[in-house]
Order: sequence, then C-alpha cells, then structure tokens
Amino acid sequence: MTEMFGGNRLVAHTGARYPILQAPMTWIARAQLTAAVSAAGGLGIMETSSVDLGITRREFEAIRAATDRPFGVNLPILFLRQNEEMERAIIDWVIEHGVRFVTTSAGNPRRHVEQLKEAGVIVYHAVPTLDAALKAEDAGVDGLIVEGAESGGIRNQEEVNSFVLLQAVRERVDLPIVAAGGIVDGRGMAAAMALGADGIAMGTRFVASVESPVHQNYKEAIVDAGADGTMMLPRPPRAKFRTLKTRAALAAAANEEAVAPPRNLIDGLYIEGDVENTMGTAGQSSALIHEVKAVQSIVEETVQGFWREIERLAAMRPAAEHKRNHP
Ligand SMILES: Cc1cc2nc3c(=O)[nH]c(=O)nc-3n(C[C@H](O)[C@H](O)[C@H](O)COP(=O)(O)O)c2cc1C
Repeated sequence: MTEMFGGNRLVAHTGARYPILQAPMTWIARAQLTAAVSAAGGLGIMETSSVDLGITRREFEAIRAATDRPFGVNLPILFLRQNEEMERAIIDWVIEHGVRFVTTSAGNPRRHVEQLKEAGVIVYHAVPTLDAALKAEDAGVDGLIVEGAESGGIRNQEEVNSFVLLQAVRERVDLPIVAAGGIVDGRGMAAAMALGADGIAMGTRFVASVESPVHQNYKEAIVDAGADGTMMLPRPPRAKFRTLKTRAALAAAANEEAVAPPRNLIDGLYIEGDVENTMGTAGQSSALIHEVKAVQSIVEETVQGFWREIERLAAMRPAAEHKRNHP
C-alpha cells in the first residue's frame, strides 16, 4: 500500500501511508481522534494549546498506547509564548520522545525551527497568505500548511481562498504544500493536488467523525450547515474567526453580546452541546459534510475518491495522444 503515494514528499516526511493530515484543533485533536486518524493511515496531529506539559504527556502516551503508526504534534507559537518555561518543557519533551513531524502555527516559526531541525524533526508551518509563506520559507521550514479563508478556526484579516492561495504559493515556493480549508473528500483532495499541493489537511470533516470527542449536537450542527452556514467575526486585535451561524454569533455580529454573552466553547459546546449559545468554529466545508462518519471510512473514502477523480480526468485524454507522449 505504501507505494500508492510513492514519491510523494509529504508521505516521505510523515511516514504515514497517505498524504492526509488531521488538522490540529484545540481540545478536539487529542488522543481519541489523533490516534484514530493515524491508525487509518493518515497523520493525526496532536494539539498542545493547553500549554500544559501534564496534558501533553497524557495525550501523547494515550496515542502511543493506541497505535504504533506515526503521528505529529502542533506547536501554536503565540499560545506557548505566554508561558516560556512550559513552552521549553513541551518542546524538549516532544524532541526527546521521538516526534518526527511538527507543525507550527499562529506566530513566527523562526522561534523554534532551528532547535527542532537540529534534533531531526521535520517542521511545517501554517500560513494564510503568500507573504507569510515566503517568510516561513525564509525561516527554514521544511513545508507549508496553506490555509484558505474558507477553513474553520482563527483566520487572517486578509481572506484569500484556497483556489487562488494554493496556486499563488506554488508559483513562488518549491517546498511541499499541505492544502487546508474546504476539503472533505477525494474530489477536494484531487483538486488541491491539481492546484499545487502535495497533500491535504482536514479539520471540520474530522470534527464530525465518530471518534471526535465533541458533543453529538455540534457534529450534527456541522452536518446541517449549508454553504452559507458559517460566518466570519472579528477576533481582536488582528484576526478573524469563522463560526457556525448560531444565535450567539449573530448577536455578536449585531453587537448584542453584552445582552447575552456566548458560553465557553469547551464546557458549553464540546461537552454540553449547547450549539446556539456558543460560537463553535467550522469551515465552509460543512456544506459538503452530510453524515457523521467513522475516521477510517473518511480516510479510506478520501483515498478511493481521489483515485476515482484522477482516473476520470485522465480518461479525457485521447488514447492516441497518450501513446504518443508515453511511447
Ligand atoms: C473546530 C476547529 C478548531 C480549530 N482549532 C485550531 C487550533 O487550535 N489551532 C490551529 O492551528 N488551527 C485550528 N483550526 C484550523 C485547522 O487546523 C484547519 O486549518 C482547518 O480546520 C482546515 O479547514 P477545514 O475545517 O475546512 O478542513 C481549527 C479548526 C476547527 C474546525
């Protein structure tokens, strides 16, 4: 099976069977989900945004106990910086415990890239613009996670969607690219690869999976959301975030938050399932998610769908021309 993506640079970097990553997501991308994605042949990425070595260790060990397949770790730079002692401890721990693949996000990768690379760790940095991609390349990262504005999570002020962003980065940068934003299946994966990516990352699709630890109501809200089911809100001082269009989100957009402030995400939404009084993030990709599925089905169907799309496109080429070019 490994030869299926033979020569793929992302697969060579991660050691996973497929060039498919599960995106890091605070509280959600922990052992249960991350281990399931890695066991299915993708690369689970564990989040560390709690900035708590105890939680990081606990989740790390739970993943190791559940699967012997490789997984990655995300370092959210701005969060970690808030506690430099813990930041150092988490990074040292990740290095000492043989993590081979790290993604960095939210901040300047220069802060960690040298130490990680000296230890033999492959580092990919998440970028929302071409400018950020060029800076990350300059900082010496091994690859990029290119996040289009349709994706879920905290987003850049400048909203550039994947269709343009991937091509703009590919025109200027030779590094491996992981496309993130708007992808839920093999069709999206084939499209992203055609635009210049070497692989994909999915966030929202894995939130609405059986193994995702969040409340069923949140998963169903994603399944029920149409193409216009999410919206962007400002996230001071300089960012935005994409949220489901809930009562709380619409109130925030109308500056009515003071009347009924949204509830905390982890308790209110992830644990108790109060969709309307929270602002749960989700990508526009929600429109393409019609069912909560097991992680293994998501990964396998994505790979099968990818090859189906490649064959569909290749079949447009006349056989005679193909022969002429491949004597
Ligand atoms: C529920 C949720 C939480 C997220 N949390 C984080 C996070 O903590 N750190 C981060 O770097 N990105 C976060 N993201 C963004 C993802 O890493 C990824 O870029 C995005 O989900 C890709 O777009 P998609 O949702 O359309 O697949 C989050 C996304 C979602 C949907």
